[in-house]
Amino acid sequence: MRKVGIAGVGAYVPSKILTNKDLEKMVDTTDEWITTRTGIKERRIADDWQASSDLAFQAAQCALADARMEPKDLDLIIVCGVTFDYPFPATACILQDKLGATKAGAMDIEAGCTGFIYSLSVAYGYIATGIYDNILVVGSDVLSKITDWQDRSTCILFGDAAGAVVVTPFQGQGELLNFYLRSDGSYKDDLLIPAGGSRNPPSHKTVDERLHYMKLNGPEVFRLAVRVIEDAVVALLERAHLSKEEISLFIPHQANIRIIQTAARNLGIPLEKFFINVNLYGNTSAASIPLAFYEALKEDRIKKGDYVMLVGFGAGLTWGAYLIKW
Ligand code: COA
Repeated sequence: MRKVGIAGVGAYVPSKILTNKDLEKMVDTTDEWITTRTGIKERRIADDWQASSDLAFQAAQCALADARMEPKDLDLIIVCGVTFDYPFPATACILQDKLGATKAGAMDIEAGCTGFIYSLSVAYGYIATGIYDNILVVGSDVLSKITDWQDRSTCILFGDAAGAVVVTPFQGQGELLNFYLRSDGSYKDDLLIPAGGSRNPPSHKTVDERLHYMKLNGPEVFRLAVRVIEDAVVALLERAHLSKEEISLFIPHQANIRIIQTAARNLGIPLEKFFINVNLYGNTSAASIPLAFYEALKEDRIKKGDYVMLVGFGAGLTWGAYLIKW
């Protein structure tokens, strides 16, 4: 098996900012409630014309430039998310065309907000076994388009973004060391879009009943999130024979600051070791972890040789973690 590493990292957020004060004018809420219950102060909202592949394109270009690579160098493109451009074809194909990545295969992976960790493990497998050399992994989501802007319990939580990495045989940076993936579909009803798929095909009725928007059992997902973050961190540390003290930075899925605080406390890990940007972007689903990773690098929170652990959870239920040595 070959060693595998991250050759480039990129991200993109739309320029339009929606603040908690703006939301006060849209639904019955307050900046104070949102800030204390979630830690979120503002989030980015895509333009009407922007779909998942448009955000993904920007993040991909940024990651390719960081890796000093051209689109034609890519062997495979993986896009993960929950708000793909169309039910089919794959958003990865649309991105392939936009980039002009003429030698690349393309596929989407849907694993909720854990999509980036799942996708990274797929890229790892192809490269470690020598099948492919250069794989682009993009987490992109435009949650504003599946958010019910009349539902105050969900519309305050989400934002739009994309984050990308280029994965290659190890070149001295960002070695992908080990990962842990889990799922439990018995919790599917706690976070889903009830209609629009083959279970409940779209109809006037489903639209009238607003079933094409995200539905969330907030308190239950909160409880599950705390439990599965702990599970993933403990399991991956064990698998990698490392102690929590040896991890320099945890990069958790950014859903709610209180989820991160509670998990950190339960794990006995100082909160300062968790990278946090949920205040600026809210929950951006599959983009959340690569966006946070990108910002952590820009802010110099990751040094050469550091052990970094990505940890995520999301609809499915899915959860998992990835250990990287930078
Ligand atoms: N503004 C003001 N009040 C609000 C509100 C808002 N935006 N949204 C809900 N409320 C009210 C509720 O109606 C409820 O009122 P009641 O007590 O009179 O019934 C009260 O606030 C408490 O609601 P609850 O849902 O119990 O709050 P909470 O502390 O659990 O926080 C979430 C709600 C959604 C912020 C929290 O549960 C959460 O973050 N869950 C995880 C969500 C998540 O991460 N999902 C994505 C996973 S990838």
